[in-house]
Amino acid sequence: MKNIDSYTHLRGESLFVDDIITRQDTLYGLVFDSPKAHGKIISVNYANAEAVEGVIKIFTYKDILGKNQIGGIIADEPLWAEDEVHFWGQPIAFIVAETKAIAKKARALIEIEIEELPVITTAREAKEKGSFINAPRSFHLGNTNEAFEKCEHVFEGKTFSNGQEHLYLETQGAYAIPMENGNIKITSSTQGPTSVQKIVAQVLGVAMHKIEIDVIRLGGGFGGKEDQATPWAVMAAVAVQQLKKPVKYILNRHDDLRMTGKRHPYDSTYKIGLDEHLKIIAYDVEFLQNSGAAADLSPAIAERTLFHATNSYYIPNVSSIVHSCKTNLPPNTAFRGFGGPQGMFVIESAIAKAADALGIDKRLIQEANLLVENDAFSYGQIATKVEMENTWNTAIKQFDLEKLEKETAEFNAANTNYKKGISLMPITFGISFTNTPMNHARALIHIYQDGSVGVSTGAVEMGQSVNTKMLQVASQTLGISPDKVKLETTNTTRVANTSPTAASATADLNGKAVLKACNALKERLKVVAANLLDANIEHIVFKEDIVFATKEEIFVSWEKVVAAAMLKRVALSENAHYATPIIHFYKTKEKGHPFAYHVYGTAITQVTVDCMRGTYEIDAVKIVHDFGKSMNLGIDIGQVEGALAQGIGWMTMEEIAYGKDGRLQSNALSTYKVPDIFSAAKKVAIIPLETQGNDMAILKSKAVGEPPLMYGIGAYFAIQQAIKAFNPKHKLQFHSPYTPEKVLMNLYE
Ligand code: MTE
Ligand code: HPA
Ligand code: MOS
Repeated sequence: MKNIDSYTHLRGESLFVDDIITRQDTLYGLVFDSPKAHGKIISVNYANAEAVEGVIKIFTYKDILGKNQIGGIIADEPLWAEDEVHFWGQPIAFIVAETKAIAKKARALIEIEIEELPVITTAREAKEKGSFINAPRSFHLGNTNEAFEKCEHVFEGKTFSNGQEHLYLETQGAYAIPMENGNIKITSSTQGPTSVQKIVAQVLGVAMHKIEIDVIRLGGGFGGKEDQATPWAVMAAVAVQQLKKPVKYILNRHDDLRMTGKRHPYDSTYKIGLDEHLKIIAYDVEFLQNSGAAADLSPAIAERTLFHATNSYYIPNVSSIVHSCKTNLPPNTAFRGFGGPQGMFVIESAIAKAADALGIDKRLIQEANLLVENDAFSYGQIATKVEMENTWNTAIKQFDLEKLEKETAEFNAANTNYKKGISLMPITFGISFTNTPMNHARALIHIYQDGSVGVSTGAVEMGQSVNTKMLQVASQTLGISPDKVKLETTNTTRVANTSPTAASATADLNGKAVLKACNALKERLKVVAANLLDANIEHIVFKEDIVFATKEEIFVSWEKVVAAAMLKRVALSENAHYATPIIHFYKTKEKGHPFAYHVYGTAITQVTVDCMRGTYEIDAVKIVHDFGKSMNLGIDIGQVEGALAQGIGWMTMEEIAYGKDGRLQSNALSTYKVPDIFSAAKKVAIIPLETQGNDMAILKSKAVGEPPLMYGIGAYFAIQQAIKAFNPKHKLQFHSPYTPEKVLMNLYE
């Protein structure tokens, strides 16, 4: 089944926040943000801006009736700065005017005086100065101190992975409308409608039921709208509360790039110990997460880094620690993989370093340590239904790695100025919010009296096609054709208290709720059908818009059953709730069973480096991926392809740059390079691994949103191999992204 949005997408008819027809009295908002990364606000002069004709009001923290606080996990982030600013781009005021142009003109007239304070931009510097968001977290398994003593080989090193801009096509924005009695309705481009509702209520000082959040769809989120869609909706709501007129605020690209946080850069230090059989016996790792100026989701992201610190390997002795370091950058936030990719880059670097020092192929160390059934993760969960070796061996065999390696060696022997490199990248990714209480969802299903069906859930459609999957679940369960089912917008008055659309778990959580609701409706309709057909209720089956009594060999249409149910006063609506069973985690012990299941896979990446220029091409990425029993292979393969491109971009060309003054230098698409069709892998082959799937996954179809991003890490190590082929003396560096500049330096160092 194709994506249900494809028709309107292709015709440009899909609605996003900025497409909603505005009321004619709509006003337009614009943020005035800090032009310095750290300092005391001495004075702000709004007089000239306020004097511009068409400026209605400029809001500051003084206008807030509730709390000036938007922090999600930790209450450490004001909506608008009060006496101090902590990052360049921090919102200070909100100009509301008759038009966007007037607001822009007014913004340029605001004068601010800031007494500058020292600026910290790197995690290392923050750690040295003791600047942290919260206390560090650490996971332990076995005893690393004792284990290192017994190791045949021990290697140590440092790594750095840079941040990443989300670059959702649709920028952040919201449109808030006053309703009666002080109620406000907000259309928001958010992954977390309930977070927006909760924070709006908190800042406005009103009850949550006065605030309705509606989400049609997102033009991409990638984690960047899990928490950071909130402030803009809140600002619009504050203005609506006081002006009693609709207020719209859509960020332009520059403002969005400057004011929002990105993937967290990580500075890490590792120590890895192996025995004579290349078994990794001990692994010690310290992660310094560059969290930015406020917590945002950093503590949860730090936690996931620890969960994925050993990637797809079983290591009996692990000691890991993560510090969320407070710096003067915009608060960094969720980004596809949620800290997992940063953790995996370090273990892959450690293995590459060990292999290089031992003069062997990295693959041999990887292979010797792959996770198998009943292995323990450092957080106590026992791995079951492990498909790691299965994906690895299938990839090597199906893609004929031996031949690929031979061709690569021959190519390198025959060419001086071009070199090829290959890498293998295994992935193991845990599915569930690491914060157990977040793993639940609801669905509200209406069967209308004509037999058509409306489905509401807490899932937000953001391009990942979750709505198509929800529709499939409903249509399949009720035995009716897809065109009888409509996916409603995500709305807090229909489905309340939602977890954000994140953690790749949205289809599982909301899909299970849809399944439950549809089954409950079906049970009620069975009674009606059995009555209508004068058949045994046990024999009633719903299929292809017909309700059959199988033994009696009689049937009636779906519409007739629904109409009869209506006459018999049977409830045709159902609200169901699903909470993931089994999962738990004890934070005091840092042990438990946090994940419903894991997703596995292996990617083989081949690249060619132009050794005169330092540029490179990704020749091919060949993947064996564990989809379980995919419910929609077209959609799922699309997710793998998209995540792969995004992962390669993170590892190779996307370079976030902040000056020492904390100003974002890569502040436009002319200075921040994302993958385009020319830089995409020349060939992408994806083999779906045939498995039975997992009962905790919706219809046994495993979560797919984030895991494949980490295949992109393979590109870094393939490039490194090619460099090594050209310059055997090259001392390996683990500092991503591997931009052509860096490659060139490494080739000739
Ligand atoms: N795919 C598209 N097209 N657009 C997106 O914004 N977000 C990713 C992934 N795939 C995203 C996407 C992220 S970060 C997550 S967590 C999952 O989708 C969320 O959706 P799911 O839980 O339905 O997989
Ligand atoms: N993944 C993604 N988003 C989240 C998580 C998680 O584990 N926890 C809280 N928000
Ligand atoms: Mo995805 S980073 O969990 O929104």
